[in-house]
Order: sequence, then C-alpha cells, then structure tokens
Amino acid sequence: MVGISHLGVNMWDDVYKSSECYWGLNPNGNLVQSLSLVPKGNVLDIGAGEGRNALFFAKHGFHVLCLDISQVASTKCKKLAEKLGVSIDYEISDIRKFSSSPCRFSCIICSAALPFMKKNEAKEVIEKMKEWLVYKGIILISVFTTEDPMYKTYLDEGLKEFENETFFDPKIGEYFCFFRKGELKKHFSNFKIMHYSEKCFLDKHHGKPHRHGIAEIVAQNNRAKSLSDKLEKE
Ligand SMILES: C[S@@+](CC[C@H](N)C(=O)[O-])C[C@H]1O[C@@H](n2cnc3c(N)ncnc32)[C@H](O)[C@@H]1O
Repeated sequence: MVGISHLGVNMWDDVYKSSECYWGLNPNGNLVQSLSLVPKGNVLDIGAGEGRNALFFAKHGFHVLCLDISQVASTKCKKLAEKLGVSIDYEISDIRKFSSSPCRFSCIICSAALPFMKKNEAKEVIEKMKEWLVYKGIILISVFTTEDPMYKTYLDEGLKEFENETFFDPKIGEYFCFFRKGELKKHFSNFKIMHYSEKCFLDKHHGKPHRHGIAEIVAQNNRAKSLSDKLEKE
C-alpha cells in the first residue's frame, strides 16, 4: 500500500487517519448504473471503509450493513451518515469470520477488500457471498490482478509465493493475493454477468500516483429460483 510500510500496527487504521476521506465520496460508477436492478432490501458492503458505496445505497432507501476491520473507518463512516441524515449499521468484523443466513442481501459490494488475504480465503469468501445473495440480487467485486505492478515487484524481488498468486509482504506484515486473467469471472459462470473488466489504471486518489491492475465484476444471481429457495430453507 502506497506510503504505508511498517509492521505491527493496524495498517488500515493508519490509512484512514492519514486523510479526511481516503477513497473519496464518489460511489463506484458500476454500482450507480446497477441501482435500478437491485431488488429492495438489504445491502452488505464488505471492507466498506469510509462508506462511499454504502452511503450511496443508504441515501436510496436501502438498509445497509457495513463490515470492516478498521475502527477508524467505522467512526468516520458513521459521522458521514449522520451528516447526511441516513442510517447504516457498521460491524467491525473480519469477512473471513463473518457468517450470514443464505439469501439475505439484495446487493453485496466487495470493492478491493479481497486482495488483503490469501487467495484461497478470498475464493471461499466469494462462494459464501454468492449464497448470501437473494434471487436476482446484484454483486460487485473488485480484486487485484497479476497485471498489478505490486505482483511483478514481488516476483522481481524473489519473494516466495505462499500459495498460488499469494505473497506475504514482510515490510507491511500482510498477505496480498492477485487473480489471473479471467479467474474472477470463472466464479460467476452460473450468474448473469452485467459487467466485467480487467484493466491497469493510474490511481491518483491517494498517496503518490501509482498503477493498479484491477478486475471488476457486476453480476446478477440468476441461478434457478428453486436453488435460492432451497438455500433459504436450509
Ligand atoms: C482498498 S480499501 C477499499 C475501501 C472501500 N471498499 C472502497 O472501495 O472505497 C479495502 C478495505 O477493506 C478492509 N479490509 C481489509 N481486509 C479485510 C477483512 N479481512 N475483512 C473486512 N474488511 C477488510 C480495509 O480495512 C479497507 O477498509
């Protein structure tokens, strides 16, 4: 993570203390475009940070549950919600330990929260998210790809891969995982893909401008309604 290079402290709390609104307030454009497709109900924002996406849904009348490991992010998001006169629930929780009943959420957002764990953990979380989504619900996920310069740096530095496309960065004290070309999309073969992109872009939102390789998917749960009903009953 640009500008953060130390061990033993909560990296994310430090990130959120370092600026007024680290990721800005604009919601993800693909979510804005998908708004009309989201069935009324509950929204789950995983790794919600300061809540730029969560607040957008709260403003549109959805009940929103945010999850994040950062207490600082939670405090900032709640203050923003108060200012906007909307209400959100915010749980300090690690997504790897979070559990939910099936078919509970109309929309699940997981914007750039999966890169900070092992690949196998990220994949498990993806499969769980799919079960938590209602029939016709919308999911948005973005991950780092092997086109990300960080991946190439780790390889060049000779850092040992912990498991497939997962590295433990000793300077930061975190695992990072990267998805191969087309890998994220493969998890959604039984969903309707509304948007899929893989690109390398210049990130000017925080720290020094730097490049990121990102894959992003927006998909709709079109698995047979009977399957969603079955999951709900189990
Ligand atoms: C790159 S930021 C993205 C923030 C927000 N989703 C956005 O798009 O503006 C990643 C967020 O994921 C959170 N995070 C990282 N690992 C997490 C985990 N295991 N469980 C829950 N949240 C996590 C971090 O605290 C951070 O707020």
